[in-house]
Amino acid sequence: AKEQGWSALFTEPMSDLVKRYTASVFFDKRLWRADIAGSRAHANMLHAVGILSAQDEASIQRGLDQISQEIEADQFEWQLDLEDVHLNIEARLTALVGDAGKRLHTGRSRNDQVATDVRLWLRDEIDGIHALLLDVQAALVDVASRNIEVILPGFTHLQVAQPVSFAHHLLAYVEMFKRDAERLQDVRRRTNTLPLGAAALAGTSYPLDRALVAKTLGMVDAQGHPQICQNSLDAVSDRDFAIEFTAAASLVMVHISRLSEELIVWMSQNFGFIRIADRFTTGSSIMPQKKNPDVPELARGKTGRVVGHLMGLITLMKGQPLAYNKDNQEDKEPLFDTVDTLRDTLRIFAEMIGGQLDAQTGVRSGGITVNAAAMEQAALRGYATATDLADYLVKKGLPFRDAHETVAHAVRIAIEQGVDLSELKLQDLQQFNSAIEADVFEALSLRGSLNARNTLGGTAPAQIRLQIAAHQARLAIR
Ligand code: ARG
Repeated sequence: AKEQGWSALFTEPMSDLVKRYTASVFFDKRLWRADIAGSRAHANMLHAVGILSAQDEASIQRGLDQISQEIEADQFEWQLDLEDVHLNIEARLTALVGDAGKRLHTGRSRNDQVATDVRLWLRDEIDGIHALLLDVQAALVDVASRNIEVILPGFTHLQVAQPVSFAHHLLAYVEMFKRDAERLQDVRRRTNTLPLGAAALAGTSYPLDRALVAKTLGMVDAQGHPQICQNSLDAVSDRDFAIEFTAAASLVMVHISRLSEELIVWMSQNFGFIRIADRFTTGSSIMPQKKNPDVPELARGKTGRVVGHLMGLITLMKGQPLAYNKDNQEDKEPLFDTVDTLRDTLRIFAEMIGGQLDAQTGVRSGGITVNAAAMEQAALRGYATATDLADYLVKKGLPFRDAHETVAHAVRIAIEQGVDLSELKLQDLQQFNSAIEADVFEALSLRGSLNARNTLGGTAPAQIRLQIAAHQARLAIR
């Protein structure tokens, strides 16, 4: 069609370079299912309102059936000359069914068409990613449920702070991914809104039934009411849904990246807290002893890529006047890559953490291996229960600030003697404050410290059991 240019209006053909520059078919063909779904719904509605004959509609649906099969079977000939997914499919439709194919575009523009396609495509991808976020949470909850009594040094500033349960630490990530899933649901709601009917920018003179199209495409709210873009200019130019999605995706990746960083630190020889299965590590071509945590490292690295896509999309939108501009064709590659990166990363993390789930028995195998003794040793080395000694003195009547100072002296002496606070003799401890009695050793133990933090959200095993039960019920896992 464009050998001679777009239409009779054009006096010269496009150069090959410009064709290549302006074409998007080689990446936007990925939208074909959404494009065909949108065309089917549009044709169905054109017939319902009396614009298209029953015969023409039937021809269009039949032609689109065949095109679906051709694309599925990889027998569809995508043509650069036809610029994008929309024009490729429309041209093929007309080749297959003649004039009926030429009537499909009545009351429609590629501007509302592409906005609809991207929204439909993204809506379904969000559902897939949402499910994967639940899988990652389920994996974390599963490992947590088996490690409630395992004690890890909790850090602030990466300095040993207070003992925490390893389960508690993992459940912190469950909270993050839970919020991420909620954010995605929220983005989905706004994404699942219909632009079709906006036509090029101003609406259309045909009596289109937009509500019917929205319902056909499942663009409805929880009550089944159609969700329709209310302003035609906004409908064709809005891409905030894509930006929002990429922002939500960036946060998912930031959480994955923080977890990756911890996995990497925990599995280094100097910590030795965990191991991940060999299939998620790689060796070195020179150092025979190495097993490197490539998967978490790459995930940390790919976070930059997704955050980059957010910057790309948000910058793409800045400065665009209403309504549609071709700039928006550039929304696709960052969006596609964000979805691919997120999907792969979440799939790998669910398995790397929780192992493979046997659907029959519900048993998991091959997830992370926990070295409880190494974690506990590390907690003992860092005077993690110093706060507990201060709290103990407060219970004996000392003001907290004085107790803090007293314990600082005790820690200093313990460091000098090369022992833990719990290894000091009762007489030595009593030098610091005469109110100290034999029950101090319970407070100074890691387990005593853990058990003491029994307020909502605290690390006491009793609290963690409640949290795990709540997550299991929410995620419908045992
Ligand atoms: N390929 C275009 C895009 O992705 C489709 C819309 C083109 N519309 C137009 N008036 N040039 O945005």
